[in-house]
Amino acid sequence: MARSPADRRALAPDMLTAREAKAEHDALGAEIAEHDRRYHGEDAPIISDADYDALRRRFEAIEARFPDLTAEVSDARGVGARPSEKFAKVRHRVPMLSLGNVFSPDEVEEFVDRVRRFLDWPADRVLAFTAEPKIDGLSCSLRYEAGRLVVAATRGDGEEGEDVTVNVRTIGEVPQVLAGEGIPPVLEVRGEVYMTKPDFAAMNARQEAEGKPLFANPRNAAAGSLRQLDSRITAARPLRFFAYAWGEVQGSMPAPTQSGMVAAFARLGLPTNPLMRRCESTADMLAHYRAIEEQRASLPYDIDGVVYKVDDLDLQRRLGFVSRSPRWAAAHKFPAEKATTLLLGIDIQVGRTGSLTPVARLQPVTVGGVVVTNATLHNEDEIARRDIRIGDTVVVQRAGDVIPQILGHVAEKRPAGAQPYAFPTLCPACGSHAVREIDPKTGKEDVVRRCTGGLVCPAQAVERLKHFASRNALDIEGLGDKQIETFYRDGLITRPQDIFTLEARDARSLKRLKDREGYGETSTRNLFAAIAARRNVALHRLIFALGIRHVGETTGKLLARHFRSMEALRDTAVAASETGSPALAELTAIDGIGPVVAESIVDFFGEPHNREVVAELLEHVTPEPPEEVASESPVAGKTVVFTGSLEKMTREEAKAMAERLGAKVASSVSKKTDLVVAGPGAGSKLAAAQALGIQTLDEDGWLELVGGAAG
Ligand code: IVH
Repeated sequence: MARSPADRRALAPDMLTAREAKAEHDALGAEIAEHDRRYHGEDAPIISDADYDALRRRFEAIEARFPDLTAEVSDARGVGARPSEKFAKVRHRVPMLSLGNVFSPDEVEEFVDRVRRFLDWPADRVLAFTAEPKIDGLSCSLRYEAGRLVVAATRGDGEEGEDVTVNVRTIGEVPQVLAGEGIPPVLEVRGEVYMTKPDFAAMNARQEAEGKPLFANPRNAAAGSLRQLDSRITAARPLRFFAYAWGEVQGSMPAPTQSGMVAAFARLGLPTNPLMRRCESTADMLAHYRAIEEQRASLPYDIDGVVYKVDDLDLQRRLGFVSRSPRWAAAHKFPAEKATTLLLGIDIQVGRTGSLTPVARLQPVTVGGVVVTNATLHNEDEIARRDIRIGDTVVVQRAGDVIPQILGHVAEKRPAGAQPYAFPTLCPACGSHAVREIDPKTGKEDVVRRCTGGLVCPAQAVERLKHFASRNALDIEGLGDKQIETFYRDGLITRPQDIFTLEARDARSLKRLKDREGYGETSTRNLFAAIAARRNVALHRLIFALGIRHVGETTGKLLARHFRSMEALRDTAVAASETGSPALAELTAIDGIGPVVAESIVDFFGEPHNREVVAELLEHVTPEPPEEVASESPVAGKTVVFTGSLEKMTREEAKAMAERLGAKVASSVSKKTDLVVAGPGAGSKLAAAQALGIQTLDEDGWLELVGGAAG
């Protein structure tokens, strides 16, 4: 029997059908991408780290069980979000990735087992790891050429960060010139910029005395100080640095191990963390984790876990990366911090797609050094399941730099007469009915209640406009959330296309801009210039900006690459709604676009109002199709099958290498197969390949083919 999305999420991945896994994978991908955008792009996350991690783990668990899904490009594979416009950009020659998380000793064991299995490492042979604190700051890449600091960049989206060289030069601990012998001609040192707890307290006290805004925690203070356009302000802020990783290195590596590299950094004059240890067993790693956890409160800087890394760099190279994080490292997170406080009320926020999200208003309470006044309550079922009532004393958990969450209530402290919370069934913004959609296949209710007001709901309209103008979409400078709200309220911008007619509209609107919105002449001119600058925009941004459900940035790029014009996308989507049309198959045949996403695109263009918005937008905006990219790898885009036994690498390693080079790895030979790599003992698959006239290679032939590119 078919199951609802909610039921599905309660199941272990291996209980899902392939179709269910695909649907959930798509939905999770979109959800994670949205949280990434809020966290990195807007510094305004709406879920706790713990919840984010849970989404991510579910996503990865599904991929582990259904490896075919991994081949799909998903938004969730991106790290962070694009850099802010204010700084010049720096392309990282080696991407800055992030770390997979583990939360318990069992998961540490699993991580170590996975590494051993990948390497086919005998159980009785020592496999050393380093263990060190995970610093709660922001990562930064420092490029030294001939020993001199030339560029410093933030992580950004992992591919491209912000140029913060001038600011980093003000950090006393960061050497401008490296010391000692054996300095590689190019060395990119990576590590964490952070602020100590005492420095943070003193700085906040100064801010307060000067009537300036306070920072919530040392991490925010460090981030805010580093990402300052005025480097004099950065210079006045007490920033520090720990070196723990590296990017591009030209010339010979200073050391063959992780621990050796960090020791070499120290010799070059870079600050390194004194708590790093080399561990020769899982028991050692866990013992060091506990030792660090015990010191946590007394350390002068914030940490949020322990990072384990395979010590041997050759092994790190063999292990490589999976999507956004290295296989050879993991972050063992500390449990989140908790506190209790009073639940004063519940606000309902209406999202872009009409979702009603309950937000707890709390009596201010300090959790882990931060004053908390709001927390997420997730959805109506969660409130019911935890039986949370207004007036309750609730348990709040805060992990990292995100909106805290409510875990439950304290039964003994419930005031007499507290009533179960009645979740609104009318939209608080427009009064339309708010319903839980019924999955047509399963007959089950969605966990999210949605406003049915659609186009008449002002809250949805405003959220859609905010999304349209936001940084990863049209990116209109000076048209932030606040401005959109006032423009909307005054009726100056109610639909995306209105943005582009603002300037040409009658003098009345200009006067209103001045009188009501408080825009002076310069800011009006700047705003018009920013809008005019977006009359030419990358097609993928415009697609993403439309806010089609499940269409994130990556999907926007896939669609732009495939269709190359908005008209072609629209025409296909419209044709696809007719039964029996081949257009639907064209959509789902795009690598990375599944049935859920396709349906959502078809629904969007099926709505006459949306077609009108698109048509009117195209009168003002000229979308630019993406450049065609030629791949350098000899196997990019090819389908490869490995068969027989491999001697120089494990099967998993071979598969990872092929995928890294842009190939697809299949398990059986078919007409679509381009290449079969056959080791000793290959049988029917090799025979099938020969019968079909498919190119075959042995392991050495494969390594030779990809040799240059595999690096
Ligand atoms: S290693 C390729 N080591 O955690 C992996 N990262 O979640 C490079 N972080 O972006 C990262 N302390 O900002 C590493 N001792 C440490 C760290 C650390 C903090 C941060 C870093 C990274 C994030 C990943």
